[in-house]
Amino acid sequence: MQKTIYWIEGDGIGREIWQAARPVIDAALAKESELKLDWQELLAGEKAVAETGSPLPEATMQALRGAEVAMKGPLGTPVGTGMRSLNVALRQSLDLYACIRPVRHFEGLETPVKHPERVDMVIFRENTEDVYAGVEFAAQTPEARKLIAFLREELGVTKVGDAAAVGIKPMTEAGSKRLVRRALRFALDNGKQSLTLVHKGNIMKFTEGGFRQWGYDLAAEEFADLTCTEKEPVPGRLVIKDRIADAMFQEALLRPEEYQILATPNLNGDYISDALAAQVGGLGLAPGVNMSDTLAFYEATHGTAPTIAGQDKANPGSVILCGALMLEHIGVPRAAERIRTALGKAIAAKAVTVDLAAQVTGARVVGCREFGEIVGANL
Ligand code: NAI
Repeated sequence: MQKTIYWIEGDGIGREIWQAARPVIDAALAKESELKLDWQELLAGEKAVAETGSPLPEATMQALRGAEVAMKGPLGTPVGTGMRSLNVALRQSLDLYACIRPVRHFEGLETPVKHPERVDMVIFRENTEDVYAGVEFAAQTPEARKLIAFLREELGVTKVGDAAAVGIKPMTEAGSKRLVRRALRFALDNGKQSLTLVHKGNIMKFTEGGFRQWGYDLAAEEFADLTCTEKEPVPGRLVIKDRIADAMFQEALLRPEEYQILATPNLNGDYISDALAAQVGGLGLAPGVNMSDTLAFYEATHGTAPTIAGQDKANPGSVILCGALMLEHIGVPRAAERIRTALGKAIAAKAVTVDLAAQVTGARVVGCREFGEIVGANL
């Protein structure tokens, strides 16, 4: 039995983190299953430019369009190609509409809060709409002036000054519902107790308020027997609740144990993912996955770390934990748990890469390769 995993090495520290991570992922799987991973490399970034002249060759896109599972290291933004970001290009052209980030604490990592272990959340962030849609016009340009004139003359909007830069915040019912549907399914499949819609609907009534309402509607339309609301709780059912985004930031610090699954529009999700990852001391360790209806695309959430590339200093933890998420997704959750426990043990034993040294009292700093070997041995 084989499962094809497409993978992109990535730029900068990409090569070394993969060299450390892949053996861990394969070994964890071998301990729990007959299944083997058939790793198929796809070219992107600098390696692709060197071999094909293009940072994102058509062969890579074609393979990804037909793929079920792929993983990637970080990609630098190539200069002078006219492409803003390969990551954004991949997300948009593959319609990777859900960005999913689990956040939990590893014992031994010092963090800015007293009880980081109370955080155990999974954030589902809408990935294609909202102010990230890229519809924005610079101040004082003919485009901005034209839009402002249209607002004034056609819609009677007088409070946007002539000199303003303007952006558009599109949010749709379909786009919001498919994100909430995915979060809801995950919550139900994993026996969670609550799902929280995080929005600013008090201020942005139709966009963010729409997200909130569409979220509740979706739960009532498609999951009526399995869900309830906070106001009318039903024992044994998943509670759907909502929080205004700024209040959610307070709650995340004050009562994190009351939140398990967050479903958010794009911008709120961007902020809260990083805030929560920092709260558990694990920004550099955070795994993530972007999903379409057909593809799960796992990615290290950090960048290419060019200043330490090739020096065996990088932390391969994010890719290793991406591997755990991937193994869970392909149906081997016990292998995933093995990886998390093994990585947790390495940190608890104070063996960490240099980026985490300041967060572990009495740390023994190890290189990228050694960290991978320790996690592998702990499996
Ligand atoms: P970065 O994440 O590469 O680096 C920020 C800081 O964290 C640096 O001090 C770096 O040394 C350190 N760091 C990052 N990952 C680390 C790891 N695994 N182990 C140890 N230390 C680590 O962010 P930066 O400098 O803003 O971006 C560098 C390049 O990466 C840019 O070209 C950017 O576009 C790209 N990038 C790509 C991302 C992706 O592919 N998902 C995400 C963020 C940035």
